[in-house]
Amino acid sequence: MRIDILTILPDLLQGPFSDSILQRAQDKKIVEIHLHNLRDYSTDKHKKTDDYAYGGGAGMVMTIQPIADCINKLKSERSYDEIIYVTPDGKLLDQGTCNQLSGLNNIMILCGHYKGIDQRIRDIFITKEISIGSYVLSGGELAAAVLTDAIVRIIPGVISDETSALTDSFQDDLLAPPVYTRPEEYEGHKVPDILLSGDTKKIDEWRYAESVKRTKERRPDLISGEE
Ligand code: 6GU
Repeated sequence: MRIDILTILPDLLQGPFSDSILQRAQDKKIVEIHLHNLRDYSTDKHKKTDDYAYGGGAGMVMTIQPIADCINKLKSERSYDEIIYVTPDGKLLDQGTCNQLSGLNNIMILCGHYKGIDQRIRDIFITKEISIGSYVLSGGELAAAVLTDAIVRIIPGVISDETSALTDSFQDDLLAPPVYTRPEEYEGHKVPDILLSGDTKKIDEWRYAESVKRTKERRPDLISGEE
């Protein structure tokens, strides 16, 4: 899979992709992540990427030219399955969307800033608009990092324990059960006996029951199917 990320702050994204699972996925050649600095595409003599909003009001708007030129260059090199704009007014990201996106070959992720991007970019190029939650970030970069991580970690072969990604919270619309490791007792707090019993069937049953209990308590919306 290839992911192209268009941003005016590539340095902000370098870190999250240079460690742990995302770095390993790139080392294993399972995914290629390419960062594109939109400023490099600006034909303005000061390399500007934004301008005042028509109609007035506070906040700058990202201009069409650098974004369109970058998208068109990439599209001339390969075809893209999705061109995603990360924005607080997009559709809320969920595990199902991550699963679906993880099966694609080439995706672009556009990060916005300021008051947003010229609407015509959205109308002409964007195939999917995604928000990562009901709050506002100062730019799309952290949302793009979240989206990329959530997509890449579930591509087969990225996590060495093959079953691990499938037992995540949300993969079956249930939160994950509690987990424990050594020591068996910490300041009077003991690991549940069942986990030390060696009875894998009983352990599976206990974990499932704990998942259901946790989901009912914390995320009843996942069980009732409501938001
Ligand atoms: Cl995708 N972008 C920004 N700027 N803020 C957000 C978001 C995205 N998702 C939630 N808040």
